[in-house]
Amino acid sequence: MNVGVFIPIGNNGWLLSENAPQYQPTFELNKQITQEAERYGMDFALSMIKLRGFGGKTEFWDHNLETFTLMAGLAAVTTKIKLFATAASLVMPPAIVARMASTIDSISKGRFGLNLVTGWQRPEYSQMGMWPGDQFFSTRYQYLSEYIQVLRDLWEKGRSDFKGEHFKMEDCRLSPQPQAPMKVICAGQSDAGMEFSARYADYNFCFGKGINTPIAFKPAADKLIEATAKTGREVTTYVLMMVIADESDEAAFAKWEHYKAGIDHEAVAWMAQQGAADTKSGGDTNVRQMTDPTTPSAVNINMGTLVGSYASVARMLDEMADVPGTEGVLLTFDDFVAGVRAFGEHIQPLMKTRTHVDSPVPSRVRAEALAA
Ligand SMILES: Cc1cc2nc3c(=O)[nH]c(=O)nc-3n(C[C@H](O)[C@H](O)[C@H](O)COP(=O)(O)O)c2cc1C
Repeated sequence: MNVGVFIPIGNNGWLLSENAPQYQPTFELNKQITQEAERYGMDFALSMIKLRGFGGKTEFWDHNLETFTLMAGLAAVTTKIKLFATAASLVMPPAIVARMASTIDSISKGRFGLNLVTGWQRPEYSQMGMWPGDQFFSTRYQYLSEYIQVLRDLWEKGRSDFKGEHFKMEDCRLSPQPQAPMKVICAGQSDAGMEFSARYADYNFCFGKGINTPIAFKPAADKLIEATAKTGREVTTYVLMMVIADESDEAAFAKWEHYKAGIDHEAVAWMAQQGAADTKSGGDTNVRQMTDPTTPSAVNINMGTLVGSYASVARMLDEMADVPGTEGVLLTFDDFVAGVRAFGEHIQPLMKTRTHVDSPVPSRVRAEALAA
């Protein structure tokens, strides 16, 4: 199973809590986390794009770096780990994104790929006069379909004459083209989003669900298998999960309870209001799960969460790999620096699905198998 880290490009990571570690999203912090992840053999790092925060006492995500420039910096200080930036397709023309991707491909020597998003939060775009109107909620994947066709033309052929409703290219050129095939992630969960991924993406990311219910995401993985059966393309599922680990289950749960007790109600309320704005796209989307304020885990945007001892977390991560169509996980941590280190030192060595990894900390599972 592949393992990636969803680096904290926004302040405080993914915990809307006064009791969680409070920090700013600096380059130094993200560099430290990504270099540690690389050292332990983690496969990739991804940063999101977030242009407007949620406010509240913790000023949640009011402080955010920009994803392409961050990944370009990280490309220069890493050598093995794959890197993904997120293209805010509404405000970044595809010919510019194709060229930025080619540039980071050059810096990273072929280790770069893209997460494509339509955008779901109106104020991110309306604040700059670039929200096309609420009808966009229902047409956004049609827009993204045109967008990616331009990207693929430019990356694969070096030119595009694509003519669609949203984009009209006229002998548009790109050189240099990327040296490695450009991999594309989408995190579509609605019917339209999944269809998009099945037709155009390489990986589809979904939200994990619940606390210590590692395979509760299975319906999303099944839905992707159905969608790819229609397109005949291979697209795999990656699952977003938060890890809160410690020496014992009790110690890990004590941290989780402490974070929940400090929930930033104001930021959660704002997020819920944003999530409710999309009344058009239908279906059970990630955004509705994420922004539901009524659950006990609204404190970490209702992200699937694995809480427990290192051994418990290792076992649950291994279980996820058994779900058909699942190729990897994207991890967040309550405390990223300590969390990545604990993953590399204590969790990964216990995982059956990570015995192949090149890490300075030997796999205990592999050692036991050899001794037997
Ligand atoms: C791992 C992951 C990363 C995401 N990154 C972003 C992001 O950077 N910016 C953004 O606007 N939305 C982001 N999203 C939201 C998705 O792009 C998408 O809008 C959401 O999953 C809802 O699916 P739907 O568009 O099919 O309704 C992300 C979702 C996931 C699971």
